[in-house]
Amino acid sequence: MQFHATRASAASLRTGCAVVGVYEKNELSSAADQLDAAAGGTIRRVVKRGDFSGKLGEVLQLVEVPGAPAERVLLAGLGPRSGFGRRAYRRSVVAAVQWLARTGARDAVLYLAQDAIPDVDAYYAARYAAESASAALYRIPDLKSGKKPPAPKLAKIGHAVADRGELAAARRGLEHGAGIAAGMALTRDLGNLPANVCTPSYLASRARQMARDHKTVRARILERADIKRLKMGSFLSVTQGSDQPPKLIVIEYRGAKAASAPVALVGKGITFDSGGISLKPGPGMDEMKFDMGGAASVFGAIEAIATIGAKMNVVGIVPACENMPSGRATKPGDIVTSMSGKTIEVLNTDAEGRLILCDAITYSRKFKPSRVVDIATLTGACVIALGAHNSGLFSNDEGLAQDLAAAGRRADDGAWHMPLGEEYAEQLKSNFADMANIGGREAGAVTAAVFLSKFADGLKWAHLDIAGTAWLSGARKGGTGRPVPLLVEWLLGQA
Ligand code: BES
Ligand code: MN
Ligand code: ZN
Repeated sequence: MQFHATRASAASLRTGCAVVGVYEKNELSSAADQLDAAAGGTIRRVVKRGDFSGKLGEVLQLVEVPGAPAERVLLAGLGPRSGFGRRAYRRSVVAAVQWLARTGARDAVLYLAQDAIPDVDAYYAARYAAESASAALYRIPDLKSGKKPPAPKLAKIGHAVADRGELAAARRGLEHGAGIAAGMALTRDLGNLPANVCTPSYLASRARQMARDHKTVRARILERADIKRLKMGSFLSVTQGSDQPPKLIVIEYRGAKAASAPVALVGKGITFDSGGISLKPGPGMDEMKFDMGGAASVFGAIEAIATIGAKMNVVGIVPACENMPSGRATKPGDIVTSMSGKTIEVLNTDAEGRLILCDAITYSRKFKPSRVVDIATLTGACVIALGAHNSGLFSNDEGLAQDLAAAGRRADDGAWHMPLGEEYAEQLKSNFADMANIGGREAGAVTAAVFLSKFADGLKWAHLDIAGTAWLSGARKGGTGRPVPLLVEWLLGQA
């Protein structure tokens, strides 16, 4: 999809479709009002007649409106004027673009951000438009054998600003939004692919593909022998029961000079989590193909940053493997030695994410990173605590936690700051090793984070538990592309 900014009025610009907003109670937005004046009152008549209520998400297409320069006019419901804000704006963009994708329009201009939107400036209005429009057009890479629906004709979307002074910010917003959308689409694709396609080897091939696509990206794949040489006994204990070879995937983005310390993004890449010998119950186990959502968000964030061309260095570190039961699998009670030298008693083989992440965090030290952020579908407990709206955010650095939480708010991709503390570390005590890999039922998301924090001493480190945000269940089952917007927002702030 191509995006461009324009300041032309709906009353004068020729386009395949002019999308103008209408609030409830027959209130036209300023863009609808301007178009209505050019069209001799057509829009007002349609609304007054009761043909369009202005309810949020509703759309009505008018064709060949006399006096309107556009081939089509699409009325988009904005809901009550008093409640119009970021959420309503984004929903109206989604509804309009979903409609447009089913018409013959090749291009369209959105006039939905011409009235001021509370707490949304010109940059974010444009960026959200690009993100929402792209998300609305996203198609799951499904393996259905029937005929694919035809690709939408829509290829160009314009975003109209209210005045010339906003053009530069809107252009930057569209560019960043398109980059974020590209990253989110990659993240969603990787999550949606089944685990028999999206294996550790497949993830490695997609990393190499990214390196081919961007001159600024390099990919290095460490194989089982390399992982052994690095003494990642904790990571290796998780892959032990699987027939798929593990991969340690390193993706380096170079947008600044070599001397500038990179940000390290560490992503949990469990391509399928059966639980291992501590086998999960059957219902819903298919969703554990999404257990590489952290890894997918690292791919997506780097894809976005490389597309945007941010002036900074980022290194993505993805330990990728399956967690499977077998005669060779790790057993509850087994003790493993992590790369850091710390020993871990594996009391539950289903708490495997922390076992691969701890070695990846240790490995990240090699890059002397300014900050380390790990992203992981780590605990069911986080889903219970925060649901699908906020990711769990944990950090050993107050400033870093604040920065990430603020980035999440601006990016409309929230994360909620949760505690860490020595009092919780008690729960990880083991009689047989330096620590256990589980801390009991209470505060499960916190004890998982505290476990990781033990490997982050001296690093400025944060952990995002995305177990509730990385994918949706039910009728809309599928990857969300989160937390790519949060990560990119934060990274752009570091550039
Ligand atoms: N990948 C799961 C976490 C998960 C569960 C994410 C459900 C999303 C939905 C993780 O590896 C896991 O199994 N965690 C266990 C930890 C427990 C054994 C301490 C969990 O949350 O039950
Ligand atoms: Mn698990
Ligand atoms: Zn898992």
